[in-house]
Parts: sequence; structure tokens; C-alpha cells
Amino acid sequence: MAENHVALLLTPEGWELLSSLPHYDPAEALSLGRSLREEGHSPALVAAALTQQRLRARAAAKFGPFAQQMLFTADGLEQATRLAVSAHHAARYAAAGVTKVADLGCGIGGDAVALAGLDLPVLAVDHDEATAALATINLMPFPHASVEYADALEIDLAERGVDAVFADPARRAEGRRISDPEQWSPALSQVLALRETVPALGVKVAPGINHTALPSDSHTQWVSVDGDVVEAAIWCGPLTPEGPGRSALVLHSGANGITAHTMADDVTDPSEPPVQVDPITSPDDLGSIIHVPDGAAIRAGLVARLCQTLSARPVGPRIGYLTSENMPDTATTPFVRSFRLTEVLPLRLKTLRARARELGVGSLEILKRGVDVSPDALRTSLRLSGQEAETWILTRVGDKAKGVVLVVEPIDSTPSTDSSSH
Ligand SMILES: C[S@@+](CC[C@H](N)C(=O)[O-])C[C@H]1O[C@@H](n2cnc3c(N)ncnc32)[C@H](O)[C@@H]1O
Repeated sequence: MAENHVALLLTPEGWELLSSLPHYDPAEALSLGRSLREEGHSPALVAAALTQQRLRARAAAKFGPFAQQMLFTADGLEQATRLAVSAHHAARYAAAGVTKVADLGCGIGGDAVALAGLDLPVLAVDHDEATAALATINLMPFPHASVEYADALEIDLAERGVDAVFADPARRAEGRRISDPEQWSPALSQVLALRETVPALGVKVAPGINHTALPSDSHTQWVSVDGDVVEAAIWCGPLTPEGPGRSALVLHSGANGITAHTMADDVTDPSEPPVQVDPITSPDDLGSIIHVPDGAAIRAGLVARLCQTLSARPVGPRIGYLTSENMPDTATTPFVRSFRLTEVLPLRLKTLRARARELGVGSLEILKRGVDVSPDALRTSLRLSGQEAETWILTRVGDKAKGVVLVVEPIDSTPSTDSSSH
């Protein structure tokens, strides 16, 4: 749903005012608003322009410098695919040699912009009128892209010359996430049914999607950006050069731009359950290295493959931390964060507080899986003060129900997967 404020900006006065604004600076927002009202602009228009200026600043994380030319709503931005990922989506369509892509449920146009940016003709469709208006503005630089305000499932794809479809169903309603794919809009089964007429189909889905919901003949790829799992996407027909199965695409941003690494599972049917590896049974079996797999690799069912490559085993049942004596090779490094294990402590506040005080631990990175502890609450209870920095992994080891703290030292500089620190 787009907010009314956007309509005010789509007037000559509104557009001019927005274009004249400097980059968003929270410290200046109040005085800027005041001086714009004093210049005679209506309070509603000033509020609309400042909201858009703030959204554009936030959108830079997803769209880089292009955000300054685009229009957003808070919801539309929240749901939009970031450019680093939509560029990978678009590359599949370009490589498949398709001639016109329908982006069904285009939102503010995050994916459509990436497709159009590769010179692919795009028909972007959204059933929310104001959102479709924003997509129209955002796709303005691309004459081969058009936007339609319509129900995605009512579009006659053949008549419109469409030979490829991308869909990103809405997975939220009234601010809440919807986990059942049949409650998404449009429902996953309705989107997948389009394959009968358009085999080149891609669907962005929630990364937590159950493997059993994946079509056996598709390729599903989970994507992480700097350690955060951002999506999974189901690719069908000519959009799956790798063939049916599962893979992880891990993107890391660095000084020289974004690096991309892919690892595929051995399965040829993505709906098959991932192979389980027996965990170690006691802390005595812990190796000298702890590996924390990237979340995309875990979701893609690659833990068994990582265990094989690293001669590792999970530290506990259903715990995605691995232990071995081996460092990852170059090909595996992007998919795990590796640590040297220095100590194993009981997960007991008194013991941990005494240790933190004794060593002068002032900064603590905490990773956790399989234990019900809030890292922030633990840090507060530890009353950290001092110059030392440590990394702790809170988890369960072997078949013990009690939690432990693995004190570790990071070995490489790969960004973390699920850590929190300060
Ligand atoms: C997750 S957002 C798409 C975000 C988009 N991929 C991007 O990167 O900006 C889903 C969009 O689908 C639209 N939508 C949901 N059901 C639809 C339907 N039946 N027909 C057309 N649009 C629909 C919603 O209005 C929403 O804008």
C-alpha cells in the first residue's frame, strides 16, 4: 500500500521541491521543514517531501546511488529486492535469452529495474494502484519497461508476448509475516501453475520455506548478503542452467565491490530432505576448530557437504555449528566462518561474570544456537568493563541438554552469519 503522501509529490510543485532537497540529515530535518513551510509550501507537501528524502536515504542500502532518483513507500522499500540480489535474478533471464519478462507483483519495481537495466523488455504489474504509480516513476528511465495496474493473474501473458515470468508474492499482511505459501498474494501454487504456459518462471520465496513445498523439477537457491539470509528463489525451465536441485549464493560486500560464491547440493530434487550428519556425542569430541556455516548454506541443505569437505561433524543434534581439525580451503571459505576453540565453559552466569571481570572483557561478540539466551540480556548481566574483546559461542554440545560457552578466536575475516556484537 502506498501512502497518500506520494500523490502530493507527483505534482510539478512537489517534484520540484523534492528535487531541490539536500541529502537527508536527521540533525537538520526539523529546521529544514520549518524553513520550507516559511517559504510557503503546505505543511502536507513539506512532510511528504521530507518523508521521501528520509526513505531515499534508507533505500541507499538496497539501491545505492539509484535511490536518489526513485520513489518509495516504507512498505514498498521494506519488501523490495536489493539491487545486489535482483541483478542475479535478472542475469538468469538474460542468460536464458528470453524476450519479454512479466514481473507479477512488481511493488516499487526493485526487480523490474534490474531486469530493465539488462535491456530486457519488462511488463511490471501490481494490483495496488499507488504502488504501480511508484513503479512507473522508478521505471521511467527504461523505455522498454511498462507498468500495469492489474491483478497479476488476470494478465493474458501470451497476448502480451511474455515468454518469462518473475513473481515476488506479498508475504505480509497487516504488518505480520505469513508463513503459509498458500496465503501469500498471489498464492505460490497459482504462480507455479503459470509454468504450464510460460516455462521460464522464477519466484522469490521466504528463506524458511519448507523443502517439501519446492517443485521437484526446479532449482531453489538461497541467498545471503553479508551473512544475512535474505531470500530463496525457485527457478524453473530455462532459468535453471544448473539443473534441478538446491544451492546457496553467498554475497559479500567489500572494498572492491560485491563478491558472489555459489555452492550446490548433490540432490537433484530440491524437495528431498537434506542429508543429516551424526553429531559428536560429548565435549571430548570437539576439534580445535569451530565452523559456523552461512545461513544460506544451512537452508540449502549443504551442512552434510560442508561436513564432508571439512571432515567435520555438528557439535550437537540439529545444531548448525561444525567442529573439526581442518581449516576450510579457498572454495569453502566463503560459506563458513571459522574459529579456533580455546576454552569450553559451562553456561552459568556466575562463572561467566567472574571470567569477564577477571580478564577485563569489555567487548563481547556472542553467537548462539540451540540455547534460549538473549545475547543482549547476557551482556547486560555480565556488566562488561575493560579493554579485552572475546567471542563466545553459546550452544549445546553432544547429547547434553545443558548449554555451554565455547570461547573462540576468529581465524578469518569472513563476515559473521548470525552473530551479534558490540
Ligand atoms: C513483495 S512485493 C514485490 C517487491 C518487488 N519484487 C520489488 O523488488 O520491489 C509484492 C507486491 O505484489 C503485489 N501483489 C500482491 N498480490 C498481487 C496480485 N494478485 N496481483 C498484482 N500484484 C499483487 C503487492 O501489491 C506488492 O506490491
